Amino acid sequence: MITQIHLHGSAADLAELSSKTVLYAGANLPSPAILAAYSPALSAFPAMGPSHLKEQPGTALISALEEEISDRVCAMFGASWAEPRLPSCTMANLAVFQCFGTPGALLLAPAAAHGGHLSQRRGGTPELAGLEVRDLPFDAANLRMDAARAAEDIRAQKPAMVMLGRSVILRPDDLAPVVQAAREIGALTIYDASHVLGLIAGGTFPNPLAAGIDLMTSSTYKTFPGRPHALVMGRDPKDGARLAEFIDRRFMANGDNGRLPQMLMSLREAAEPDMQVPRPRFRPIARACQKRWRQKEAASCGSRRPGCAGLDRHRSHSAASRAVGGCGGHR
Ligand SMILES: Cc1ncc(COP(=O)(O)O)c(C=O)c1O
Repeated sequence: MITQIHLHGSAADLAELSSKTVLYAGANLPSPAILAAYSPALSAFPAMGPSHLKEQPGTALISALEEEISDRVCAMFGASWAEPRLPSCTMANLAVFQCFGTPGALLLAPAAAHGGHLSQRRGGTPELAGLEVRDLPFDAANLRMDAARAAEDIRAQKPAMVMLGRSVILRPDDLAPVVQAAREIGALTIYDASHVLGLIAGGTFPNPLAAGIDLMTSSTYKTFPGRPHALVMGRDPKDGARLAEFIDRRFMANGDNGRLPQMLMSLREAAEPDMQVPRPRFRPIARACQKRWRQKEAASCGSRRPGCAGLDRHRSHSAASRAVGGCGGHR
């Protein structure tokens, strides 16, 4: 049973977190304005269907919030459509797999050992949609996707979809060869930007849509300054219309509309100039962590390479945990 003592305890945890530099992006605490923007009244309000065509009366404000969130997401990330209603990135990835995939179709996706999240990878969410999942190749020496081999695999294996992005992103992948190969064979490219969305918004990480990726999914509580929710966006309006219709007809009835005002507030904050992170501030921290991680990997794994050595196959964040564990930041 949760008591006042437990609630007080979690407040103390939050206070302790706020006083530390926590390097796990998911421990990001939204601003007081974002936290206060959650609307219990809207939360209790059902609203099924597309904006301004909802089944319930009195839902104009909910539709207006959805519209403004979509417009802001499109402007911020250079998308031509955005879907603001899904509750988490895991659900957003499932919706994308169900909507654009067919059972038995092939998906190339990052492996767990390379930071692939359960909602992206072999053995995880894509298999709920009946997809066959094979691992994308990884360049362990450079700690990023092996783009040249990934392009070869796409041409040879002809997947219906290619899922990119990971839970551990130490530097941007080279997306151009993958986009080119996927276009040649008509595969849909998806980038899960959960860990880097705020960096993309701030202009310090390359925008996958600008590199030609078709669809971007993301959670909203890591480098992006929000509470848990999801964003899906893309380049081709036909994909947006197809996803919206799928959601309305088959995937979702009502959601927690109390989250919409805080999502809007998060987008407004992310657009403020002082959210643009000056990269040099993070370089010394990143270098110290890299050094410590390499020392720990060398000590525990002998001569195996860092980046893919000895990681727990089912915990995509274990690489990140190990990386920051030695720096005192991870909980
Ligand atoms: C790459 C990636 N995708 C999806 C998720 C899950 O997001 P959510 O918690 O919104 O379902 C995570 C969570 O860490 C992630 O790292």
